[in-house]
Amino acid sequence: MSLVSTYHRLGADHVVNEVVLDEGTIRTRVAQLGVTISTDYAGRELLVVGILKGALVFTCDLVRELQIPLHLDFMAISRYAAQGGTGKVRVLKDLEVDIPGKHVLLVEDIVDTGLTANYLCSLLSRRNPASLALCTLLDRPELRLAELPLSYVGFQVSREFLIGYGLDYQDRYRDLPFIASMNLT
Ligand code: IMP
Ligand code: MG
Repeated sequence: MSLVSTYHRLGADHVVNEVVLDEGTIRTRVAQLGVTISTDYAGRELLVVGILKGALVFTCDLVRELQIPLHLDFMAISRYAAQGGTGKVRVLKDLEVDIPGKHVLLVEDIVDTGLTANYLCSLLSRRNPASLALCTLLDRPELRLAELPLSYVGFQVSREFLIGYGLDYQDRYRDLPFIASMNLT
């Protein structure tokens, strides 16, 4: 499908600025991350934990680039603005497997303030995994409120709001095969 017809699917109510990361660029980087992670975890069995819904697309592409034995699980969370603004994280779907002794790789779509990833890392580390690392497709360090170690980063991005490849605006546009910036009107 051409970009033009893909744009057409977006409807007239929102304006897409420009494609920030096209399909090929994302595919190449995800493949590189797959090689790096496979090397780092060689000889160990990995539990990949994708965070729904945003990281679904990235997680599915990433696991297919990994050349090590792995288990795949998902957590679903929601963040809502609490009074005071920093937002609270609620677990909507927890893991189906126990993690003591497992090497856990948490996969996020974007780490922005870092509050979501920070919450999830402390939640999972309390369950005594053998190791815990964070892999995010996108890193927006400018707006970081919680410091946390990012083991694997696909791309650093600026402040503009992004949609596509799992990222949503009001739960839409997750299906776009590329990442675009969007004017929030
Ligand atoms: P954080 O807790 O501020 O790091 O927020 C991370 C979550 O906010 C991500 O998992 C996304 O769901 C969402 N998010 C942050 N920036 C964007 C964006 O530019 N587009 C879409 N979702 C975003
Ligand atoms: Mg998300």
